[in-house]
Amino acid sequence: MTESTVVTLDVRGAVALITINRPDKRNALDGQVRCAFLGAIDTVRRDEGVRAVVVTGAGDKSFVAGADIAEFEGRSPVDQWRAMKAPSIYDAVERLPKPVIAAVNGFCLGGGMELALACDIRIASASAKFGQPEVNLGIIPGGGATQRLPRVIGLGGALRLILTGELISAQEALRLRLVEEVTEPAALLDRAMQLAGTVASRSPVAVAAAKEATRAALSLPLDDGLKLESALFQLCFSSADKAEGVRAFLEKRAAQFTGR
Ligand code: COA
Repeated sequence: MTESTVVTLDVRGAVALITINRPDKRNALDGQVRCAFLGAIDTVRRDEGVRAVVVTGAGDKSFVAGADIAEFEGRSPVDQWRAMKAPSIYDAVERLPKPVIAAVNGFCLGGGMELALACDIRIASASAKFGQPEVNLGIIPGGGATQRLPRVIGLGGALRLILTGELISAQEALRLRLVEEVTEPAALLDRAMQLAGTVASRSPVAVAAAKEATRAALSLPLDDGLKLESALFQLCFSSADKAEGVRAFLEKRAAQFTGR
């Protein structure tokens, strides 16, 4: 277990649990949290033993309550421009060639929702609340929600959340397909770790290729996306994992994937 004060990284077998740990501020994202989070993502990217990641928030109130609003006060446009040139936690999650599961355990607002949107699978506690409340502050989402939210739940649902700034329940988030599952609060982390464990047991090469190809569906025209799928499909044929997976099936045994 690696301890930064504000983000913890706990590697449990093939699954890394990243916890944003600033519960007294509802896990709001300030510069220090963003930097520590990027460090944790980089560590799991380089650790070949890690095959899947779960992201959650410390405490029982909040996943992430958004950007740290205190940092906005007095910030000039140039300061904000510079801040936005820093590496993005959202891009880092999306580009990580390992699946990332958001275990949403409470308030998931603003930049917190944008972080969840950058994750590959979202699971919520029944007590979670979701929203893009930026319009209450005289700003708009700046971590990708205007682009990623419509791609995940459609334009109407996205506009409803972004224009009203209202919070919605986990059940409503499930209905909008913003989250894939809702669990009892006490069962959330186990369920997220279980899902991550399932993905971690598959071929890391195939999982990375599948993430890249499937995510490309949101940005590429169909023909280009199909070409990418085809290229990655062929790439899998060069992997030891493909040889092992096929052999194990034919020999009626469980495959032992190496990620090679
Ligand atoms: N940025 C900075 N501080 C935040 C924060 C944020 N996004 N969200 C919560 N906090 C801080 C509060 O200022 C408070 O600090 P204090 O104890 O020093 O006064 C502490 O976290 C607890 O927040 P509080 O509002 O008392 O808790 P709550 O459980 O009643 O409400 C929220 C929780 C998340 C609903 C509420 O804090 C909130 O609306 N936060 C802002 C959400 C937001 O607009 N996010 C988008 C930012 S772009």
